Amino acid sequence: MNAAFPLTPGSAAQAFLARAHGLFIGGRWVAPLAGKRFDVFDPGTGQKIATAAAGESADIDAAVAAARAAFTGPWAKFTAAERGKVLWKIADLVEQHAQELTELEILDNGQPLAVAQYVVRHVVPDFFRYYAGWPTKIEGATIPTAPQGRRPGEVLSFTLREPIGVVGAITPWNAPLPMLMVKLAPALATGCTLVLKPAELTPLTALRMAELCAEAGAPEGVVNVVTGFGETAGAALSAHPGVDKIAFTGSTEVGRLIVKAAVGNLKKVSLELGGKSPVIVFADAVLEQVIPGAARACFFLQGQNCMAGTRLYVHEKIHDQVVNGVAAIARTMQLGHGLDPASQFGPLISAEQRERVRGYVEAGKREGGELVCGGGAPSRAGYFFEPTVFARMRADMTPVKSEIFGPVLCVQSFGDADLDRVAAEANSTIYGLSGSVWTRDIGLAMQMVRKIDSGQVSVNIHAALDPAMPFGGNKQSGWGREFGKEGLEPYLKTKGVSVAW
Ligand code: NAI
Ligand code: MG
Repeated sequence: MNAAFPLTPGSAAQAFLARAHGLFIGGRWVAPLAGKRFDVFDPGTGQKIATAAAGESADIDAAVAAARAAFTGPWAKFTAAERGKVLWKIADLVEQHAQELTELEILDNGQPLAVAQYVVRHVVPDFFRYYAGWPTKIEGATIPTAPQGRRPGEVLSFTLREPIGVVGAITPWNAPLPMLMVKLAPALATGCTLVLKPAELTPLTALRMAELCAEAGAPEGVVNVVTGFGETAGAALSAHPGVDKIAFTGSTEVGRLIVKAAVGNLKKVSLELGGKSPVIVFADAVLEQVIPGAARACFFLQGQNCMAGTRLYVHEKIHDQVVNGVAAIARTMQLGHGLDPASQFGPLISAEQRERVRGYVEAGKREGGELVCGGGAPSRAGYFFEPTVFARMRADMTPVKSEIFGPVLCVQSFGDADLDRVAAEANSTIYGLSGSVWTRDIGLAMQMVRKIDSGQVSVNIHAALDPAMPFGGNKQSGWGREFGKEGLEPYLKTKGVSVAW
């Protein structure tokens, strides 16, 4: 346990950590069939804080069977309004247990207190409440058809929107609770059941959420959680013939493996994958907004964020001011353990991730980038890495092309070139997730919005997420959309019905 910021003895989070965590299958805690376990570490100290069950393919079989039984059984009997009540109650319970979930999320993932508090008190409850309103509004349509020579009035055609079935949800470690929420809420709203496989680096809050879903009234088997590794539990889930759909968030590399594994029963797949999002700053932008905005775009969640604005394109007229301003923020950000209220910047998720990030920084230096600030790991416990800014970067440099998933900002400048050239630079990666344009000129902004090939583009704000706003990737950033009304679609299937008389 972290010595500098111990959890209060007797606190709910401490009691949770001390439990012998099992798998949550069919509404109860069960031991993993092969009996294997793995250690869970606090990235802020590098110390072990818990162990979790390493579920494997036999455990996935059990969880899928429980999810199937619930799907065709008790859950199918819930009215739309009753499903909405369960979702609303989950939001209430998250708020009631906010302190515990906040502490567990910090210990599991490392994020600063202010971030975790905002997530647990606002992001997660708002999201469940948004989807709590949807079950009663999922509607089909009546269609004017004339099959086989029928005349109007002789046939009635309509569509039914039905839940897709048993969903396998595989989530990453960078924002454990929000990633889970994004799958859970639309799946429950549409009447699906789930087997969740959280990231092995951050299994804790998913286990607690499974209990809260049950307490909120989800019948046994509706929400199952199998902790374990990607290569075993994750692979078994994505290949399982009893799973109707996989909802995945994670690396593009694993996204490809999921697609291959899904081929067996041609299960439906939605993917939210990597990003390398551009932040484009024109000469007339408001510097007092751009500088903190660009710093936040890149350094939020220590850059371990699929939407991170890691490629900063600045008009040459204001280039030096912006670079100096962002670097000043990076240099003064208070690094520290997430439970320390003074911390503004937490650790990376693991020692391995820190070495990956360090490798990209070394490549940037080797390839001729100008290191403005950061670039190293402070000597302290935990997996910290300094917020890093590189200037004078070029499109062909390794850190500009790759999703680093760490706090490394690459700055390039542009002159009064035509917009198509700026947009071509912005679009020059395999990704297309997010992006932002900073200018006071609304006409210029709207032209750029059209030209950027990303699932999300915002103006004078980066990563403007909201439960109601569709979010997802173009190109190799993914398949499908999450959030909003569109976020229901991957969990629904349409049945065309025609009745003749
Ligand atoms: P990952 O993609 O391996 O992990 C994400 C999830 O996929 C985890 O739950 C993991 O257990 C599961 N998984 C891994 N292999 C699997 C397989 N063969 N079949 C089914 N599930 C599998 O991400 P990782 O290795 O932890 O991070 C490596 C890099 O991936 C990061 O540096 C970052 O660039 C990227 N990444 C991107 C994320 C995003 O949201 N865009 C999230 C996490 C990682
Ligand atoms: Mg991996």
